[in-house]
Amino acid sequence: MATPKGLFSPNVISADIAASFPESYIIRPLEREDYHKGFFECIQVLTETGDVSEERFCERYDWMKNQGQGIHYFLVIEHQNQIVGTGTVVVERKFIRNLGNVAHIEEIAIRKEHQGKKLGLKMIQALVSVAKNVGCYKSILGCSEENEPFYIKCGFEKRGRNMGQFY
Ligand code: ACO
Repeated sequence: MATPKGLFSPNVISADIAASFPESYIIRPLEREDYHKGFFECIQVLTETGDVSEERFCERYDWMKNQGQGIHYFLVIEHQNQIVGTGTVVVERKFIRNLGNVAHIEEIAIRKEHQGKKLGLKMIQALVSVAKNVGCYKSILGCSEENEPFYIKCGFEKRGRNMGQFY
């Protein structure tokens, strides 16, 4: 099998969901060249990223592609040569549920000027399709109270409480 150009094979993204994006918006796996397409400016909509050099970005990308194969599924939305949306599925392999796999959805960000066009919803649908296609039995995520209505519209429901500790 040929090595995919991006982080992983785009075949794990539902073709129907990929086709449902508005014209000129493309959903695809993260690529090394995305550093130059405003990847960090996009993800900064979500949180601070620090000042990451291209070399360090590529190191992390290569780690995800090689050691992290089958675990890291980072998606981006490209529009006119610019990254306008990000999101990732991280697959956790468990002993419970008959050695089940759980998808953790993380790093959802849509550039401000592209919000409100259903791109966030479609990003979630694309990530969920990846989670199903790589054999996960559920997708989970943590979010702020203000984003709860968005995730409810994406078909998620409140289950338990998240807790955290920062280092
Ligand atoms: N509160 C209430 N409803 C919302 C919100 C919100 N904060 N955000 C979106 N919605 C609604 C929309 O109105 C729309 O409803 P409709 O179908 O009735 O019209 C529906 O949810 C889908 O909205 P989209 O247009 O797909 O949302 P958008 O593309 O703007 O993306 C997102 C939403 C991802 C939250 C975006 O605003 C964003 O990037 N915010 C900043 C970063 C962020 O908070 N990311 C999520 C972090 S949590 C995580 O990563 C797991």
